[in-house]
Amino acid sequence: MINTIVRILFMAYMAHASIDRETVSTDDYESYSIWTSEEIKVKLDKWKDVYPDFFHMTSAQEKYGLPAAGSDADCPFHDVTGCHNFIITIQDFITHPEGSYTSARLPEVYWSGCLHGNERVGPTSVMHAASLLLQAASCEALPRTKDKDEIAAARKCRHELEKKGISEHQRKWLARLVSTRRIVMTPTTNALGYYKNKREEGRIDPNRDFPYDVKDPEDCMQTIAGRTVNEIYREHLFQLSLTFHAGTEVVGYEWGAPHWLGKLSPDDVAQVSVGSAYSNYGGGWSASKAYAYGTMNDLVYYVRGGMEDWAYAGSWDPDRVVQCEPTSFDGYPKEKTRYNNSTLRIFNMLIETSDDKEPKLHLGNSVDVLNKDTKGNGHISRNIRLALLAAELVEPYVSVFKVNELRLSDDVVPLLTAGEESCRKGNTVMVAKNTQQVDISWTVGGSMTIDNTEVWYAKLDDVEGRDLDCLKHPSDMAGFVKGEIIGGTNGTSAFSSNGAFPTPKVDEPDGPIFTGRISIPSSTKPLDQIVIYVSARVDQDWKNAPSETYAPLVGPQSHIANVRTNPDWHHESAGKFVDGRLDWFSRPLYVILGDFEDAIGTQSGHTVGTLEHNVRFENHNAGQGGVLPKSARKERMWFPVDMTFLLLLGALVLALCLFCACLCRSDGSEKFAPVVQMDDEDDYAFDSAPFSDRADTELELRPMS
Ligand SMILES: *[C@@H]1O[C@H](CO)[C@@H](O)[C@H](O)[C@H]1NC(C)=O
Ligand SMILES: *[C@@H]1O[C@H](CO)[C@@H](O)[C@H](O)[C@H]1NC(C)=O
Ligand SMILES: *[C@@H]1O[C@H](CO)[C@@H](O)[C@H](O)[C@H]1NC(C)=O
Ligand SMILES: [Zn+2]
Repeated sequence: MINTIVRILFMAYMAHASIDRETVSTDDYESYSIWTSEEIKVKLDKWKDVYPDFFHMTSAQEKYGLPAAGSDADCPFHDVTGCHNFIITIQDFITHPEGSYTSARLPEVYWSGCLHGNERVGPTSVMHAASLLLQAASCEALPRTKDKDEIAAARKCRHELEKKGISEHQRKWLARLVSTRRIVMTPTTNALGYYKNKREEGRIDPNRDFPYDVKDPEDCMQTIAGRTVNEIYREHLFQLSLTFHAGTEVVGYEWGAPHWLGKLSPDDVAQVSVGSAYSNYGGGWSASKAYAYGTMNDLVYYVRGGMEDWAYAGSWDPDRVVQCEPTSFDGYPKEKTRYNNSTLRIFNMLIETSDDKEPKLHLGNSVDVLNKDTKGNGHISRNIRLALLAAELVEPYVSVFKVNELRLSDDVVPLLTAGEESCRKGNTVMVAKNTQQVDISWTVGGSMTIDNTEVWYAKLDDVEGRDLDCLKHPSDMAGFVKGEIIGGTNGTSAFSSNGAFPTPKVDEPDGPIFTGRISIPSSTKPLDQIVIYVSARVDQDWKNAPSETYAPLVGPQSHIANVRTNPDWHHESAGKFVDGRLDWFSRPLYVILGDFEDAIGTQSGHTVGTLEHNVRFENHNAGQGGVLPKSARKERMWFPVDMTFLLLLGALVLALCLFCACLCRSDGSEKFAPVVQMDDEDDYAFDSAPFSDRADTELELRPMS
């Protein structure tokens, strides 16, 4: 009885706390303004210190030995001559250390803040996008241990993000993007031009400086901005990139070179799809419509030497590529503009941010910045979203978020070291002994159309010796059985014009939501394990030829269209790999048949038979390496509670409290407090799932063989 009262009070407390946490204070928002070169440099220097595991910074001068444009008088905030072109890499350097197998296979995205120095929305937008990614990823990585300070820090940063209107799902989404992609950016690509608020770098226009459809070899790679981009591209296999400009409001793609005037590109179907997503997620407001999207030749004007067509076709349309022999800055090696078959197959979309090159009004604010329908929409806000969307769309993924009624606490936890062990820890649930079926729910991201999705399962013993890994897709599904799909097997992404379908419920991730069911094989004994994968096939229309005139008459040439439609697509360059596949798999989910009956929690009127093995308090590597001996580890279980139920119950208890105010006033707080301390006080707080009596149960997972 006491126990029940305590539990109810505890739940009331939880419900109350969660209501508090949802209150967004308007003191916390930031009205965007356009940052100067110096302000950008100060931020970058700070991030370098604060986020060493996620953020690397160099410059074209330091990395590639390029000269700096400008004189002593330019960019005086750093004590070198001229303006350095800063290059930022955002990556989870612990999960994917430089030089590792998985690092070489991260899908790559590039953001150029500005090629024209007086077009000023881009640099600040990419900086804010980077800032959100870094904040979310570093927050989501916490806590790594049971250390009180870490738990406090974890709680604080979640609270801060929430106050800014970044919901729990959005925080997890941003963290996933950081931990599963490599994002490279040059906030001020034309560093000198941005510093001087001038279009050109010196006297040369960097966006006429790329060796595509140029007539004279002396007329390309004249600028340091152009060479910076060239050097970066040669080192990567980007699939998506954004090049920010201003002067009109357009998302533009191929073709934009005079040679192809009046023609669509062979990748037009995919380009329309991606372009429409940018337009849609960017949105508009009273003074500005959502971006028009279409070919640069139609919507802007053609250029020779433009970055976009060079990045898209430089590897496969050699007839348009010249090898540059510029004379500026003591020349530039000719071989640097000879490209192999892999490097330049990118959707390098042109974003013309705003009619004003430096808009003074409607820059937007940070309130709910990830929602396009926010009142704070504006030029910076919408381009923050565009940048993040490029990172989203670069690779399809499947994320399981619910098992039976249990919401999994974590999606991708950054800064985990790779390997089966850590993978398994973060993706294990236990179900009651008498469970016959397990329902799971997932979302599919990184794509626009979900053609099909399936769920697969096997007893772990039956797939013994298979390479089951969180960071690699399984090579095939031999030994696995297909589960049942409940409801639709196809759908559309949240970024499509009709929105996510199947539609998420309140408090589900923003993407399309699918549900499947697996049957526990009858031979399964308590503590046996079942491994589940969900797969999705997406964007198969991207392989289609455009219905209108296109040229040249070849199939899609981009990495991004081929990677998801053509399993024979393999490219390797500069130590990076791009591999095509039709099916994209979730991380493996392990279900252990428990040694308990399905009785836990029935006393609260809510049947719960699913426990989560939470990865949080394991000793996973935060940079130092090393694994605790097994005997020192505790398998901590979480007790799932349906929040709706909690809120209802909380409301009931609060109502009761109003009836007997004295109880509430005099005893309430003291009563709540000891209850909260009953378990390790802080443990539950970053998660909505409080402990049960079983919370401290130690469970020996069956050793992995
Ligand atoms: C392709 O070219 C890049 C430079 O553009 C180079 O780093 C890479 O090694 C080349 N790859 C192959 C397979 O030749
Ligand atoms: C270049 O790559 C394309 C696409 O993978 C391939 O079809 C073609 O054979 C390659 N060309 C050369 C010369 O390797
Ligand atoms: C989606 O699935 C439904 C059945 O659930 C089917 O009727 C429909 O044709 C499918 N749509 C596409 C585009 O495959
Ligand atoms: Zn421009």
